[in-house]
Amino acid sequence: MTDLEELAAEALAAIERSGDEMSLETLRVHYLGRKGLLTAHLKNLGSLPAEQRPAAGQKINLAKSRLREAIETRRQTLERESLDARLQAEKIDVTLPGRRRAGGGLHPVTITLDRITRIFRAAGYEVAEGPEIEDEYHNFEALNIPLNHPARAMHDTFYVEPGTVLRTHTSPVQVHVMEQGEPPFRMICPGRVYRCDSDLTHTPMFHQVEGLLVDLEVSMSDMKGAIVSFLRAFFEEELEVRFRPSYFPFTEPSAEVDMSCVSCGGKGCRICGRTGWLEVMGCGLVHPRVLEMSKVDTNVYNGFAFGLGVERLAMLRYQVGDLRMYFENDVRFLRQFN
Ligand code: PHE
Repeated sequence: MTDLEELAAEALAAIERSGDEMSLETLRVHYLGRKGLLTAHLKNLGSLPAEQRPAAGQKINLAKSRLREAIETRRQTLERESLDARLQAEKIDVTLPGRRRAGGGLHPVTITLDRITRIFRAAGYEVAEGPEIEDEYHNFEALNIPLNHPARAMHDTFYVEPGTVLRTHTSPVQVHVMEQGEPPFRMICPGRVYRCDSDLTHTPMFHQVEGLLVDLEVSMSDMKGAIVSFLRAFFEEELEVRFRPSYFPFTEPSAEVDMSCVSCGGKGCRICGRTGWLEVMGCGLVHPRVLEMSKVDTNVYNGFAFGLGVERLAMLRYQVGDLRMYFENDVRFLRQFN
């Protein structure tokens, strides 16, 4: 029986020392398993005198249950320790400030283009697009600007190769639309245009929106109505608008559109050069030769066209004095439009 007590003491000590659940299981099998050391004691009971057997059996069973308990206690301790270690390792500090997702936004030119498009769509205009790399025919000839016409020099054209240019205005899209469809036409064309020009008020790339309406008996007053309604919707103000005679090879008559200055209301300030007026677009009745070249029957149809600068309208609406800010992509500037 001293044997049994030594064995139990040795087992308890081993259990306390065990560092993980695997070695604990090995110990359980070693002492309590079917071929375990304590189990062997039980098997030996038969060799004892009958009167000693009950007392000896009880002792063995007591030792077995003490070991079982010790193993269970140790198992729980090990489990708690490994959980604690995991919690410590995977700890997150919920008091740290959150990482904010940097939200993007639309560029002011895009916002302005969307706004212009929305207003014209509501008035029944479709949106057309054309190529930025254009042939000279569509950019010039089909718009009544023949080779050697002085208007070509006004355009500061970028040539891609002889006969091919970066379009200098969105007017060639008028030609594509007329070539490809049947009148009546009522469309706008937003897009990028290019001119070899760069200073305070000019950038080599900028945006225009072209408008074209071709129908029966279109008059100057139809054009004035369309343009005045657009400008008042865009600026959300009852602006004064005036039409000054001008010249474009592809319209006749042609006009330059001025509106009362959004900054001073017409009194005269720095923005409008003390005139009280701001020049915002060109327009006119489409020249019959332009219609004819694109196979529109001028005995039946006529129309008006206009072209406006998007950056210019954006500058006036947002009161930004320097055109270059739209192209420097300084986020501190851009963020203000979100
Ligand atoms: N295309 C002209 C320009 O770029 C603008 C315009 C368009 C004028 C349509 C009249 C009619 O200056």
